[in-house]
Amino acid sequence: MESTLKKILGIVGSLRESGNSEIMVKQISREIAEPHALKLLRLPEFNLNYCNGCYRCLMTRRGCVIQDDLATILNAIAGADALILAVPTYFLSAHSCLKKFIDRGISFYAHAEGLWGKPAVGVGIAGIEGKEGSTLLDMERFFTSLLAKNMRCEIVYGALPGEVLLKEEGKAIAREMARALFSATKSDGHQGLCCTCCGGETFRFENGNRVRCMLCSEAGRIEANADGQMTLTMEAGEHPIFASEAEALNHREWLLGMVGRFKLQKDDLANVRSEFADGTPWIRPAATMDPG
Ligand SMILES: Cc1cc2nc3c(=O)[nH]c(=O)nc-3n(C[C@H](O)[C@H](O)[C@H](O)COP(=O)(O)O)c2cc1C
Repeated sequence: MESTLKKILGIVGSLRESGNSEIMVKQISREIAEPHALKLLRLPEFNLNYCNGCYRCLMTRRGCVIQDDLATILNAIAGADALILAVPTYFLSAHSCLKKFIDRGISFYAHAEGLWGKPAVGVGIAGIEGKEGSTLLDMERFFTSLLAKNMRCEIVYGALPGEVLLKEEGKAIAREMARALFSATKSDGHQGLCCTCCGGETFRFENGNRVRCMLCSEAGRIEANADGQMTLTMEAGEHPIFASEAEALNHREWLLGMVGRFKLQKDDLANVRSEFADGTPWIRPAATMDPG
């Protein structure tokens, strides 16, 4: 008989065994009140290649054609009821295993219906207070690319393996994340302005009062109201892809339309490309070098 226990997948974004990321995932699981089954997946341990931009995953709707571990990871995610992510900060951003995985994300659309809306929480680990860089944003992007429902993302500080739980703060954050994972609404530790299109909290200042959300890339305006409080007005553009399942599926259809657009412009594109198929020398990796 199929177990009724909730299946939680803990995604550990660090190769350090019994390191802070692994400890935080397990601690959050221990704090979850309802009985559940936890499985772990150490993301950088898997063999993942780069996306080669062929779009065949969309055209066949069967997923990516590259023979590596992507399907194993996606099946583990699709088979879980909820996700706990913990990832270290490396050079002011999240460990690159997150980005390497989401760069394969066009093939996620083939599984969109199975992925959409999975509750997820994320903890970014940073060794130096305030030096987490874009780790929070990177975790949010990981969840939105996976079409998951970001219930809460936080940063915890600790450099040495195990240090995250030496302080009360790490334990408190684990408790909050455990509560957030299955709560009805997104619990938000951050009180600042957020994007009304996707909930993102990171913005680039452009000309004048124009801003751009760094999570969904929609544009908006930031202004002070009569009380001197800042207000943010976002304008959803042509490709809103995160707010609802329908938007994500519409984006998939738009991507599929690329095939038709490619066919229409095929000859013009070939003319441009042939002009650049010249003899400029390449430096190639040793494995692909001609031994002669
Ligand atoms: C290559 C490398 C780069 C790092 N860069 C940063 C950084 O930019 N900011 C920061 O606060 N900590 C940085 N750290 C510290 C780690 O985020 C910290 O040690 C963390 O606890 C590691 O998590 P883990 O035990 O799960 O591997 C870096 C560590 C390494 C090994």
